[in-house]
Formats: sequence, C-alpha cells, structure tokens
Amino acid sequence: MSTVTASAPGKVILFGEHAVVYGRPAVAVPVTQVQAQVEVKARPGYPDGEVIILAPDIGLESSLADLPSDHPLVVALHAVLAALDVQIPPACQVQINSTIPLASGLGSGTAVSVALIRAFSRFLGNDLSVEQVSALAFEVEKIHHGTPSGVDNTVVAYALPVYFIKGQPPQTFQVSRPFTLVIGDTGVASPTAISVAEVRRAWQDTPAIYESYFDAIGGIVDSARQAIEAGAEEVLGLLMDTNHGVLQKMDVSSPQLEALVKAARQAGAWGAKLSGGGRGGNMIALVSPDRADKVAMALRRAGATRTIITQIG
Ligand code: PMV
Repeated sequence: MSTVTASAPGKVILFGEHAVVYGRPAVAVPVTQVQAQVEVKARPGYPDGEVIILAPDIGLESSLADLPSDHPLVVALHAVLAALDVQIPPACQVQINSTIPLASGLGSGTAVSVALIRAFSRFLGNDLSVEQVSALAFEVEKIHHGTPSGVDNTVVAYALPVYFIKGQPPQTFQVSRPFTLVIGDTGVASPTAISVAEVRRAWQDTPAIYESYFDAIGGIVDSARQAIEAGAEEVLGLLMDTNHGVLQKMDVSSPQLEALVKAARQAGAWGAKLSGGGRGGNMIALVSPDRADKVAMALRRAGATRTIITQIG
C-alpha cells in the first residue's frame, strides 16, 4: 500500500460529563466541520522500521524511534503494531494535520489518535473495525486523562451521536431534526484530569450528595436522548440548563463559563451549559439557526476567545 489517508472529527459532550465517570450515561456528538487528517506514505528504498512523523500544527518532525515511549503518537502507533502483530513496519512517513483547535475540549488529541490508528492500520493492509479503533484510542486517552470514561474515543471513532455508558457497548442514535449549536471557548486551559480528580475527592468526602447529583444527571441524559430523537429543541434547551445547574453544584463551572452561559441565554439561546471537564474550556448553546450569529457575537462580547457554529445531525 503506497499512500493511505484517514480522518476523524472533533466532538462535544452534550450531556452527562463527570457523571459518566461513575457509570451514568452521557450523550456526545461529532463536530464534523473540524477534522484531524493523517496520511501515511511508503518510503521505498528506506530501511524497514524507519517511520518519520510530521505534525506541523505542533511543530513536530521526528522519527518514531526518537520520540519518548509514552508520547501519545508513539503509544498509538505501537498499539496498532501490537494489535496487528507486526514487529517492524515498512519505512513510511506519517503526516498529521488538524483543523481542530488544540486543548479546547473539542477532542483534538482523540481525533488525531483515531485518524492515526485508522490510517496506519490501513497502511499495514489491515483495516481495523470501529470497535478496535476506539479501543486502541482509549489506550492513548489514558495517558492524558488517567481514568477516562471512554466517551471521547467512542464518539470520535464512531463519528455518530452516541449514548454512552462506561463498560457497555455504545449505542449510536439518530438525530431526527438537525439542530444548531454555538460552541464558545473561555480561552481558559483546564486539564480534564484535574477537574475529574477534584470531583472524585468531593465524591469521596460527601458520597451521598454526589451520588444524587450523578443520578440527577443520568435522568437528564435519558430525557435528552428522547428529546433529540423527537426533535424537541426547546425541551433539549431546558435540559441543558438543568444539567448545567447540577454541574454548578458540583463546582466544575467557573466565572468565565458562567459569563458565557448567561450571555448565550440572554441572546436568546434555548439553553446553554458547560461542556467537558469544566472550570474552563468550552460551553455550548442550543439555538435556532437564525439566532446563531447573534448568540456567537454575544459570546465573544462576553469574553469567548473563539466561537464555532455547528449543525448536529
Ligand atoms: O474535557 P473533555 O471534553 O475531554 O470531557 C471530559 C468528560 C469527563 O466526563 C469529565 C471525563 C470523562 O472521561 O468522561
């Protein structure tokens, strides 16, 4: 196989973040207008095993052998070699490009892993199934997150809306009527591993209270899935507000997130909430298509460093 390519979308978590780590469901959707793309090209004449990696977005140009063994790209490539029982791959060049903003909660690292795993396995002549791609990407997620639920690698690998419960086969589902989201970035970097660890501490201190939060979120997620399947946007907006309220109680919001959520609602969004680990990162607002620009502008005025308008479904 001389040259192969593969791509993977970004993602947002619509409902259920944090509670999903504790066995409750979450709903996440792909954001297809941003993508990671990987091209693997044979380098005839070079010795077997010589793999060159080019990732201009992060200024990386290196041979696989020169990168640390716990580098996410190395873990992904080695995971593919192990899964396919290949000891030494043919010489090749791996080029990684992405339009997904880095470290923004839109799944840029996950999408790179998924596209890389897919392209490299294809290059080695053995297309992996979506389940296998997702499982290998999960191994890479563990480097970033420690104890990830698996929702991110699942939604990015399937590239479909997913209803996800940790440890269970994911359920993909249909969006009956496409809906519009405005994603607002606080510009505040907030590692997911830290907010996940703080929720864990709080849960250990007051388990009954946090279990009740997780149960409340689980109920919201089930209603949200029904609302998405029924195309009931206004109900979905209310459910976003309710989910955000529980996340506030869990102390994973922040003044910047609050400013954006409030601005979105004031500009006429049906609902708004933080998305992902919280404390910074992104929020999402559900809007009617004709209000999307207005809400995006309000978010920028309230401090968003970037807004993305995207159609889901
Ligand atoms: O920060 P993100 O977008 O990767 O989302 C993290 C979601 C959590 O539920 C907080 C953690 C997890 O592993 O599911």
